[in-house]
Amino acid sequence: MTRPAVLFVCLGNICRSPMAEGAFRAEAARAGLEVTIDSAGTAAYHVGEPPDPRAQAVARAHGADIADLRGRQLVAEDFHRFTHVLVMDHANLADAHAIVPPCAPTRPTLLLDLVPGREGAAVADPYYGGEEHFEDTWDDVSRAARALVAELAA
Ligand code: 4NP
Repeated sequence: MTRPAVLFVCLGNICRSPMAEGAFRAEAARAGLEVTIDSAGTAAYHVGEPPDPRAQAVARAHGADIADLRGRQLVAEDFHRFTHVLVMDHANLADAHAIVPPCAPTRPTLLLDLVPGREGAAVADPYYGGEEHFEDTWDDVSRAARALVAELAA
């Protein structure tokens, strides 16, 4: 079997997708799952930057250190390198569809499609919100992380 490779995608790659990466790294490590994990943004605004301090703080409070992550932009090649490209919202989905090569084996899907009862829903963008929005983000991404680990470990 091919080793799974999971890419989390949001707009800026400084809030939602690095939090998803941190939650999934922690869950995968707990389960002893061997998997390649990364995150990216559809936009280039924050390339090379660490996650937003509010995202880092909430991740740290839940036992995940995401301080060393750095922003990068989603590229067409990602749909060849990753077995899963999981996006946070419908704008990310449209932006990802715009660059996915027709011959690539992987298509982008919504992260919350993994969570029973949340199919088709978006992980809301916390960037312009307060601390509690980042807690909501953590809740969403950690639920999806647990569901994905269960699926990959089965
Ligand atoms: P993210 O949040 O997509 O969850 O990383 C955002 C980060 C930055 C911006 C928008 C959303 N921005 O406009 O700079």
